[in-house]
Amino acid sequence: MSSAQFKFGENLFVLPVVSPTDGYMGIDVSRLRESAGLVTYDNGMANTAVCKSSITYVDGENGILCYRGYGIEDLVEHCSFVEVAYLLVHGKLPTKEELNQFSTYLNEHSMIHEDMQHFFTGFPPNSHPMAILSAMVTSLFSFYPHIMEGDANFDITAARLISKVRTIAAFSYKKSRGQPVVYPRHDLSYCANFLNMMFNSPVKNYEINHHVVKALNQLFILHADHEQNCSTTAVRLVASARGNLYAAISAGISALWGSLHGGANQAVIEMLQMIYDDCGDVPKYVELAKNKENRFRLMGFGHAVYKNYDPRAKIAKTLCDTLLSIINVNDPLLDIALKLEEVALKDDYFISRKLYPNVDFYTGILYRAMGVPTNMLTVMFAIGRLPGWIAQWKETAEQVDGKIIRPRQIYIGPSRSGFVPIDKRM
Ligand code: CMC
Repeated sequence: MSSAQFKFGENLFVLPVVSPTDGYMGIDVSRLRESAGLVTYDNGMANTAVCKSSITYVDGENGILCYRGYGIEDLVEHCSFVEVAYLLVHGKLPTKEELNQFSTYLNEHSMIHEDMQHFFTGFPPNSHPMAILSAMVTSLFSFYPHIMEGDANFDITAARLISKVRTIAAFSYKKSRGQPVVYPRHDLSYCANFLNMMFNSPVKNYEINHHVVKALNQLFILHADHEQNCSTTAVRLVASARGNLYAAISAGISALWGSLHGGANQAVIEMLQMIYDDCGDVPKYVELAKNKENRFRLMGFGHAVYKNYDPRAKIAKTLCDTLLSIINVNDPLLDIALKLEEVALKDDYFISRKLYPNVDFYTGILYRAMGVPTNMLTVMFAIGRLPGWIAQWKETAEQVDGKIIRPRQIYIGPSRSGFVPIDKRM
């Protein structure tokens, strides 16, 4: 089927249909205003395909997530985060040589300009790390403007950003604790390096545990991309105006921070703590979430696309079971989370609305077990999401027929009226 028809008034309109490799076909409405004098209205763009993309595929009904055609389960089991980052940015899995080269770039570009360190002291000590991250990433353009000059090798640009964001995140943590920063080391892998920069200190040697490193790789892979979600749309929006990579990623970080999006992982931990402090009264909070007279929702539950168990949540839940027992962490919030899931999934309110745990429900507990503080949980999501954002920025920037993203609206304000001078206004 290559076209769709619809009738408006007495007129019949024919609209072309765009076919995907997988998923839903799309009705092309881009000429509808000219032909029928109509725009389409889609609150939240929940049923609108804003671009053609070959990066990530999500089948929300069946709980399927693939990056460049590879299932998330396989990538989590067999790959490192760096390998997946390469896959997303390049569109193919790296050979050993390509992976080595990419890892070398990550090492070579892991430092931030020393002058950028002064920025940290300008923030109040209790600043939210997402505010710092977003500001620092935009500032990177002042120090590394090469992307605008047509970088011959996008690998270096991608590696520079992926590596530096990790360093900025760890430095901001150290600064918030009033501790000296720990510089990146050439002999450590991407994730081990991050843990060392976060938790090593001159007075206490941090022992890198390979189980924790593996779990961190897996968590970052779970976050690495998720097609046209809110923050990725922010990245593509900036990219569509030919905005630079750093500005676009900074916009993505700001969007991710929201509590209905990536900020939910912080909100989940705060909610679980609140339930725990309230004698672990899970049913009370399930009832509260169902009551429409307040704005309380079960954080980490529900998803705009998944109307089935989020495959990332499934993997994170299993990871919780294994990692916490291996590293001997007994987190009472995990018990609350398990109970909450059990009660909610038996409740008709959640069953009828197809509300299941999403990626943020269990990942916060895993990061906590690694020692990451609650206000840094969304930063962890951002580090993981970076390769996806970079790939999405690149895809947008390279589209030869790319258009600036400029939606329409249904105007519901006052109609034009005569101007009232100030001395005649009531
Ligand atoms: N708790 C209670 N009720 C909920 C929840 C929830 N977590 N999520 C949705 N609902 C209800 C909602 O009130 C509505 O009920 P009704 O039909 O009676 O009006 C119905 O389910 C549909 O909700 P919606 O807001 O139209 O659904 P959506 O698909 O637009 O929203 C969501 C998706 C993720 C914003 C929403 O489920 C939510 O607020 N969840 C909690 C926040 C959260 O965990 N966010 C992280 C999402 S995963 C990370 C990411 O990729 O962003």
